[in-house]
Amino acid sequence: MMWDNGGDVYTSRSSRAMKGAMDKESDLSSLVSILERAYSGELAAAYAYRGHWKSLKDPAEIARIKQIEDEEWLHRGNIARMMQYMKVEPGRLREARCWIVGRIIGIGCHLIGWFLPMYFAGRLESGNTIEYENAAVYAGQLGLADFESELLVMSRVEKEHELFFLGVISNHPWLPLVSRIFKWGAQAEVRCQRSDASL
Ligand SMILES: [Fe+2]
Ligand SMILES: [Fe+2]
Repeated sequence: MMWDNGGDVYTSRSSRAMKGAMDKESDLSSLVSILERAYSGELAAAYAYRGHWKSLKDPAEIARIKQIEDEEWLHRGNIARMMQYMKVEPGRLREARCWIVGRIIGIGCHLIGWFLPMYFAGRLESGNTIEYENAAVYAGQLGLADFESELLVMSRVEKEHELFFLGVISNHPWLPLVSRIFKWGAQAEVRCQRSDASL
């Protein structure tokens, strides 16, 4: 009974409180680490897409990827506000690395044809969708409701990006082989994800 075992109750309460504090600390460090990576990742993505749409000929594809570039800049702005609130500074080295990677991919898009930039953009977007979903879970657990809802919106936008890229490559003859090698973009997955999105 509770009053027969006061010391244990105290211990169990304090260990629960300690566990709660440790969980919060771990959620916070997971959220910060995703935001730091995503902030610079959005920079790389935006520059890569700038090179990508400039390398294309189809006006509809150019317009959509231009829009995707704009959405990546918006995401970076949203993350910047979250990081400011949490007093987290972007890592200069990571920023420089991502700037270089984005520019190199942007230039590479002019050299490696139509299929591969579309394929790897879609594969990358698939990872972004999950990252923002995870970040939203951590934000929710920390009671940061505004962050949580914004991160879920961003995750949905990344899913739309992924589905656009899946859509444009879905009938390409290289897709079956490349999707087996790089584990993204199988036909069944394309169909399944399209029907999820239309729900
Ligand atoms: Fe993004
Ligand atoms: Fe995206």
